Formats: sequence, structure tokens, C-alpha cells
Amino acid sequence: MDAMTIAPLPTHTLNDGLELPAIGFGTWPLRGDDAVAAVRSALDVGYRLLDTAVNYENEAEVGRAVRESAVPRAEILVQTKVPGRFHARDLAIRSVEDSLRRMHLDVLDLVLVHWPNPSQGRYVEVVEALLTCRERGLVRSVGVSNYTERLLDEVIEATGFTPSVNQVELHPSFPQAELVARHESLGIRTQAWSPLARMESEGDGDDPLTRIAAAHRISPAQAVLAWHVARGIVPLPKSADPARQVANLAALEITLTPDEVAAITALGRPDGRLFDGDPETHEED
Ligand SMILES: NC(=O)c1ccc[n+]([C@@H]2O[C@H](COP(=O)([O-])OP(=O)(O)OC[C@H]3O[C@@H](n4cnc5c(N)ncnc54)[C@H](OP(=O)(O)O)[C@@H]3O)[C@@H](O)[C@H]2O)c1
Repeated sequence: MDAMTIAPLPTHTLNDGLELPAIGFGTWPLRGDDAVAAVRSALDVGYRLLDTAVNYENEAEVGRAVRESAVPRAEILVQTKVPGRFHARDLAIRSVEDSLRRMHLDVLDLVLVHWPNPSQGRYVEVVEALLTCRERGLVRSVGVSNYTERLLDEVIEATGFTPSVNQVELHPSFPQAELVARHESLGIRTQAWSPLARMESEGDGDDPLTRIAAAHRISPAQAVLAWHVARGIVPLPKSADPARQVANLAALEITLTPDEVAAITALGRPDGRLFDGDPETHEED
């Protein structure tokens, strides 16, 4: 497929002016040649936002795919994350410099704090370090991941800075309605990790997702991604399969009715997380 003939993706304008594609490509747990092939294919079929992290150990491969792609670097947004063991001012700056070196890039489009690790108590300091990176021209946009409302409030209160995005666990079993509403009032764009809940649960044939998918002649995965898009949330589906990459991207063109959106949101459960990933207690090294 000719990468140059693909229509531009719709975008959201972030609170710092960055144009963020309405869907991105997740790269965990891709590694090695598989990662290069999957990211190159994702760019070929039209993805323009790539989500990686130091802890995915695939930054070099993501960088290689960007360099080898026919898509110009200026059309691609590369987003990475600073891990918990770098939660200190100097270490976080070094983490960004190391990411740039591993990816052979001059600038990162977005850098997020991967997890707040509240027990370390440095979730404000690491944001300040990323702001220093932005001042130095290493990073275009500074965001966070897995921050709760309480932690967002603390960051904003302490720094006067509002992160551009918060990337959180979000899928039909865990729709995060309150946090998403808070993001909207603060001007933070929500990104969804594990947007398909890793496709771990099977419908029973008569569940809302299966019914909505059948009504639109789409797959349940596409119905889930269209639900994210309808809510203004940027999903980051991972697929190593080029056909599923295309199908996931096509969800941007599907419009669900408000009732369908509400029916999928109603699938949420308080214990709907995929694993014990409560950001108030989870520690990411
Ligand atoms: N910030 C954080 O703390 C955090 C945590 C977790 C993940 N993330 C990010 O979020 C991204 C996505 O999360 P995730 O990888 O956990 O889960 P996901 O994107 O919800 O699901 C990925 C799984 O679904 C399968 N899949 C994808 N499209 C499909 C389709 N159309 N039909 C059927 N199966 C499909 C994939 O298999 P195939 O590859 O075989 O298609 C893969 O097994 C990650 O890659 C990473 O970038 C961030």
C-alpha cells in the first residue's frame, strides 16, 4: 500500500497546541524484528501515533521502523514513557536523552510519566523534569499515564502546569467515566491503554457488543474502538496483524448512536481492571 495516498487522520488539538491523531498504535509487547515489521506495517496502513515506553524494551525497533518508513518523520508522532526507577529530576532527563539516543530521533513528540508510583512521592518532580526537557527542545508535549484525579490535582497545584494527556486503563469493563469527565473539565486528552481489554473476554452471542457489532456489520473489536472514538478518547490498540491493524483503524469511520455508546459504557464494573493495576498502589520499576 502506498503510504503517501492515505488520507490524514482526524486529530484532537491538545492543550499545548499539538495535533494528536484520534487513534494510535500500541507497541507492547512487540520486540525485535517483529516490532519493526509491525510498526512499519502500522505506518503503511495509516497510523501516525506510535506508543512505546522505556520498559517495553522496543524503543530502538520503533525508531528503526520510523527511519525505514516511507512516511516522513514530520508526519509521525512518537510517544514514550519514563519508568519508575527514573523518578528524580536528573534521572528523568537522562531517561529522555537515552530514549532519543536509542530511537535515533532529535525530538520526542510526547513523553509521559509511565506510572505515578505514589509511594516514591516523586510524581510531581518527574513532571517538572519533563518540562525542563520541553524547554530544552527534547520533547514537544508533556503528559502522564495512570495518574488519578488526586494526583492530577497535586501536579497542577504544585506546578501550574496541566499535562496534555493522561493515558489510563480504559475498555468496556472499565470505562473510567468520572476520570474522563474530570479530564474534560481540566483540558486533558484521555488516551486508553488496553483499549480492547486485550480481547480476552468472549461475548456470549447475545451481549450488547455482539449485537451492536452485528447491527453495523463490524467486528466487536471495531465496535469497542468506535465507542472510544465517540467518547473523544484516543485508543492505542496493538496488533501484530496487518489486517487487524487496518480493521482497527477503520473504526474511526464508524458512528455509534448515543444509545449504543451508553450500552457499551454500561458494561463497566468496579472490578473491571485487567489486573491489579490500581495506580494508587501499583509500583512500576
Ligand atoms: N501506560 C500503561 O501503563 C500501559 C499499560 C498497558 C498497555 N499500554 C499501551 O497500550 C497498548 C495497547 O494495550 P494492550 O496491548 O495491552 O491491549 P489491546 O490493544 O487492548 O489488545 C491487544 C491484543 O488484542 C489483539 N487484537 C488487536 N486487534 C484485534 C482485533 N481487531 N481482533 C481481535 N484481536 C485483536 C492483539 O493480538 P494480535 O497482535 O495478534 O492482533 C493483542 O493480543 C500497548 O501496546 C501499549 O502501547 C500502556
